[in-house]
Formats: sequence, C-alpha cells, structure tokens
Amino acid sequence: MRLSPAARIVILTGAGISAESGLRTFRAADGLWENYRVQDVATPEAFRRDPALVHRFYNERRRSLATVQPNAAHRALVRLERAWAGDILLVTQNVDDLHDRAGSKRLLHMHGELLKGRCLGCQAIHSWSKDMGQDSRCPACGRGPVRPHIVWFGEMPLAMDQIFEALERCDLFLAIGTSGHVHPAAGFVEAVGPGTRTVELNLQPSLVASAFREVRQGKAKDLVPAFVEELLEDASH
Ligand code: APR
Repeated sequence: MRLSPAARIVILTGAGISAESGLRTFRAADGLWENYRVQDVATPEAFRRDPALVHRFYNERRRSLATVQPNAAHRALVRLERAWAGDILLVTQNVDDLHDRAGSKRLLHMHGELLKGRCLGCQAIHSWSKDMGQDSRCPACGRGPVRPHIVWFGEMPLAMDQIFEALERCDLFLAIGTSGHVHPAAGFVEAVGPGTRTVELNLQPSLVASAFREVRQGKAKDLVPAFVEELLEDASH
C-alpha cells in the first residue's frame, strides 16, 4: 500500500536495532542481562535493596556506550526523518544513545536514557556520562542523591500520552527489533487506526508479529535501509 508523502509515520525500535552495533539484547538465550538477573538490577525494589549493585550494573552499561557506534539501521532512520515531508516520530525502548548519535531528532526514549541521571530530591533530570554512585549528588540542587534516568520494571514509561496520540493518527507504524515481550510497547500495534499500515522488521517474528500486516525477517542493518529506500522511492512518484 503506497504511502502519500505527507503520511504520518511512527517508528518503534528495540534492542534488535542496536544488536549489530555490539550491544546485547535483553532476552538472549541465557535469559540473563549482562550476567545479572533483571529483578536484581532493574526494579525500584532492587535499587532500595542494593543501590551499589544497581549503580554498578548501569555504570558498566554506560561505559560500554563508548565502545559502540550507530549502525546502518540507525543511519537509515535519520535519512528518513530528514527526507520525509510528513510527521515522523521515533519511539525507542533503548536506553543507549545510538539513535541520538546517528542524528535522530524526532526521538522519544520511553524507557529513559543511560546518559541521564535523575535527582531523588528535586527530580531534576540531567546529562550523566560518568560513573554514578551512592555518593553522587544532583548538579541542580547539590543535595539529592541521584539514580539512573531509566524506567525500571513496575514504573510508568515516559511520554505515553504523546506516543498514543501519535499512534492513533499515524498512517504507518513500523516496529524494528523488538520482541513484543514488554508492554506497553508490545501493544502499540493495537493502538493504531484501522487503515494504518503496520510493518515489523525483525530477525525472528516477535510475540505480536501476527498483529502486523507485513512482517519482514532479517537483520536490521539490511532490512531498515532497504525499507527506507522503498518508502522514499514510493513517495517520489
Ligand atoms: N536485527 C533485527 N532484529 C534483531 C536483531 C537484528 N540483528 N537481533 C535481535 N533482534 C530482535 C530479536 O529477534 C528480538 O525480537 O530484537 C529483539 C530483541 O528483543 P529483546 O531483547 O526483548 O529487546 P526489546 O524488545 O527491546 O525489550 C523491550 O524489555 O528488558 C526490557 O526495558 C527493556 O527496553 C527493553 C524492553
């Protein structure tokens, strides 16, 4: 189904788009996450119970960002954003900064960002690129201890109203490299309008693949540039 050049696009990305940059996905075969159990490092309870362990986990992941680069899939989405005449919104579940470094601007990190911290006192959110610990203090109020600006399990993802408003209005919903294990992102495909074109690009069909009109199987670094070229080619006629 050909999209008009003014069509509205919402794109959802997950860990699969960063896999070829060298960042591991979450549900790898061993079910561990960088050798930690999720419930030990990615919940508010875990942070209350053992803040040092949680800080260590995120410090390791924050440091690893310096060792990876955006890949062709990230760059293809920037090309689309810059060339597309209609509204386009990139919603990522990823907390890495690869979309940001690739140049995406119309970007929402619904699960937060590794390179940001949040004050437990004044709630200010600020850039944070170095290690974080229990003795780290908020740069805004100078008093509050800080936590990673990451949405943990049991917490509400960010920008939900804006995301659902965009989903209801979009003409194309494209999901890239996400397994459909985690809500609310897994339910986004059900939130679009009846006439919306829905496409999934993934190495394996996700848990919600059956809800998409089109499913393409393969690596993001191959599928995403090809799909973007198709969209731009169609829109140019
Ligand atoms: N190209 C395309 N897709 C890929 C590739 C690749 N090279 N490698 C893996 N994938 C796909 C897998 O098939 C899977 O569907 O990426 C997906 C990764 O799934 P998950 O590890 O569950 O990651 P994600 O869907 O982003 O997880 C969602 O869960 O752990 C929480 O908050 C965390 O944001 C994360 C959320």
